[in-house]
Formats: sequence, structure tokens, C-alpha cells
Amino acid sequence: MRVEDIDLSDMAFWALPWRERERAFAVLRAERPLAHFAEPDLGSSSTLALPPGPGYRAVVRHADVTEVSRRPEIYSSGKGAISIIDLPEEMVEFFASMISTDNPRHARLRRIVSAAFSPRRINAIEEDIERVAGRLIDRVATLGECDFVTELAAPLPLEIICDMMGLPASEHATVLRCSNIFASSSDAEFLAPGDEPLEAMMAAGFEMVDLLTELSAHRREHPADDLTTALLTTNIDGEALTPAEVASFFILLLTAGNETTRNSISHGLLALTEHPGQRAVWQADPVAVAATGVDEIVRWASPVHWMRRTVTEETVLSGEVLHPGDKVLLFYGSANRDEDVFEDPYTFDVRRSPNPHVGFGAAGPHFCLGAHLARREIDVMMRQLLVRLPDIVASGEPVQTVSRFVNGINHLPCRFTPTAPPATA
Ligand code: HEM
Repeated sequence: MRVEDIDLSDMAFWALPWRERERAFAVLRAERPLAHFAEPDLGSSSTLALPPGPGYRAVVRHADVTEVSRRPEIYSSGKGAISIIDLPEEMVEFFASMISTDNPRHARLRRIVSAAFSPRRINAIEEDIERVAGRLIDRVATLGECDFVTELAAPLPLEIICDMMGLPASEHATVLRCSNIFASSSDAEFLAPGDEPLEAMMAAGFEMVDLLTELSAHRREHPADDLTTALLTTNIDGEALTPAEVASFFILLLTAGNETTRNSISHGLLALTEHPGQRAVWQADPVAVAATGVDEIVRWASPVHWMRRTVTEETVLSGEVLHPGDKVLLFYGSANRDEDVFEDPYTFDVRRSPNPHVGFGAAGPHFCLGAHLARREIDVMMRQLLVRLPDIVASGEPVQTVSRFVNGINHLPCRFTPTAPPATA
């Protein structure tokens, strides 16, 4: 494969099998670590769509991803961390939240939100994760087969985020539909026939804003022990989110915390199926191996393809001069296969240690707020699966999500020996 044949902006690239994409990134790391690509032309007929900008540099080496992440004053998130094209103002309001802000705004938002993600709340959630995972497995245990993504991997993080916010179960299906559109609007599976992707994203955004505005108004009158109430309630520093910020933060949680965890769990089952030796190691001691295995799943899956930064002052990266306004995309999956950092990067090793992967982003102000929660969800689901459905395997080809942004799996057939429901069910 030649550098000239690689086009990271071409959607066809993201439909290639994983191994082929990995080969392309290996070529870029070795030969062109800051390759320039034209911005994707979204081909959108929407009036919201802006014309493509000047293109971007693909940051593919671990050392460079780390360097960019830890220097927010030179590499800004403020112009849109989760989109290549500068987002129209209306969309920034919905999708940007703190992931697309710089200091001082980012620090303020992160302070408030981190306080609401208190250890007490996360501990309470840990019990919920066990309960929800158990219930999902109960539901399929007698069947002997199912779609792993739709029945097990997708509902767990979705239900947990909705429960955290205090959204009733009756809203879960709406939230799932909108969340799919946010993260993978390029995938036709998630759009109604004739839908225009950008317009569909905006419509989904409005739907979520309405839902959360209603919930916020209710919680102001009737506070509850949930994240929505915590975010709206002034904390000890006199800080709180406005209802609009709560809605925007919820959309961020959906885009940042939902698909990512779902896809990690699905990639996890696939990896354990393709590497029976590693599965045997995990199954022999699920609690001890989870300490390293969960992070190896996140490295292996690298569920977020990239985040964007914009250069604010002239600087040098990998020996090349970058100018103010240059866009750089941090390709986490490539950094997570960097042979200069990982021994045998293409080996799935559930005991890998150390494992300085950047699946949750590299160290810096935007490092994943939900990393702890995501690790717990992956751990609990893997443990319960290996104990409750001990011979579960992926039994057919995964249907990849066609997306430039998330390394997703839409469907994954799985098979296991049916078991009777627990006596209490
Ligand atoms: C395996 C699952 C997950 C992966 C791979 C993942 C990955 C990431 C990445 C790559 C970033 C950006 C880092 C940067 O720009 O430097 C991020 C940020 C973020 N993540 Fe996660 N994430 C996961 C799960 C979650 C969960 C479960 C939540 C919350 C429920 C969450 C909430 C967030 C938030 C709020 C941010 C923005 C933080 C900021 O800008 O300060 N993530 N995540």
C-alpha cells in the first residue's frame, strides 16, 4: 500500500476491513506521520452545511497524539473537537458542550460536571450496572442465540446513562434512536429513507433538548437523587449548569459515552472469540484479568477514531511547522498500534501491562470524563457473560458501522448454550 493510495476522508476507507485500515495507518506512521487530507465533502444539500475548509493533518503516532493532547493552549478544542468541518453555530450549541470548549469555559463546565460525577454517585451506579447487565442476560439466556449488539451491548450503556440522568424507561427507545443518529449519521441504517444526515442530526438534537428541558423543569420543582438534579443545583462553589447546558451535556454523554462503550463490549466479544487462548485466560479468573483485560479491549477496539484540534500559534510537530488555523486530527486507533510504544501491537493480550493506550484520549484537560464508568460497564458485562453464558461466541460476521468517527459494530450474531432463567426470574 502506498501513501498516495490512502484517503482518510473517503468514506470508502472507513468501510474497509479493520486489518486493511490498520495496514494503511502503519504506512502513514512509517512514511508520512502528518499527512494532509482534503476535508470530506459531505455532499449535503442542507442549508446548514458549510463548504469544506482547507483540510487537515492526520496525527498518527502515539508520541504526537500525546504531545497535542497535553498542550491545549497551542492545540485548541474550541472550534469543534468532534467535527472536521467548523460547525455552524446552531450545531455547536447542541453537540459541542465541553468537549468543544477551551479554558476558562471548559474548566468551569468540567468542574461542575466532575462534582456531579462524584465517587458516591459512581459507586451507586456500579450496583445498577450489575443489575442491568444481569437483567439483559436473563432476557436472552434461554434463546441460545441473539444479536449481541442490539440485545446486550447497546442497551447497557444507554440504560445506565438514562438512569443516571433520571430519564424514565419509556424514553429509552427515543434516546437510542437519537443517539444512533448523532454518532453515525453517515450510516444509512440509522436514517429514514430520504433523510438528509445533517438535518436528521439537528432534528435529533432538538428532540433531546426538548426532552431534557422538560426533565430539568420538573427536577427544579421536584429534586431527585439523579445527575440532572445535581447539575442544576448550585454546588458549594455557587456553580451550576443552566437547563440549556444540561441538555447539551446530555447530548455529549450520548455521543461520548454510549456508542463508545457499546462498541467496546461488542469488539470485546469478537476479540475473545477470535483469540480463544486469551478468552481461556480471562475465563479462568475474570476478576483478576479484568484489571488489564478491560483496557486491552479499549486499546483493541479504539472506539473513537479521532478528535480534532486547531493550531493557535506557529509550532513544530514531528519536525513539521504547523500554522495558526491548521486543523489536526488525532487518530487514536493508529496511536494504539504504534510499534514504538506497544510490544506486538497487533496481538490481543488481555494481560498487557503496561498499556499506555489512548482510547480514552491522551492525558490532558479533555481526557474522557467517563473512563471509570466505561471500564466498570465493560468489566461487569464481560464477567457476567463469561460466568452466565460461559460458551458465548460471536457466531457470524460483524456488520461494521460505516462512520468516519466511531469504530462501530451495528450487528453481531452470537451463540451460546441456552440456560434456564434464574429461579427468581
Ligand atoms: C470505552 C468507552 C469510551 C471511550 C473509548 C471514550 C473516549 C473518549 C475520548 C477519545 C474523548 C476525548 C479525549 C480528548 O479530546 O482528549 C472522550 C471525552 C469525553 N468522554 Fe469518553 N469515552 C468512553 C466512555 C465515556 C462514558 C461512559 C462517558 C460518560 C457517561 C464519557 C464521557 C465523556 C465526556 C463528557 C468527554 C469530554 C471531556 C472533556 O471535554 O473534558 N465517555 N471520551
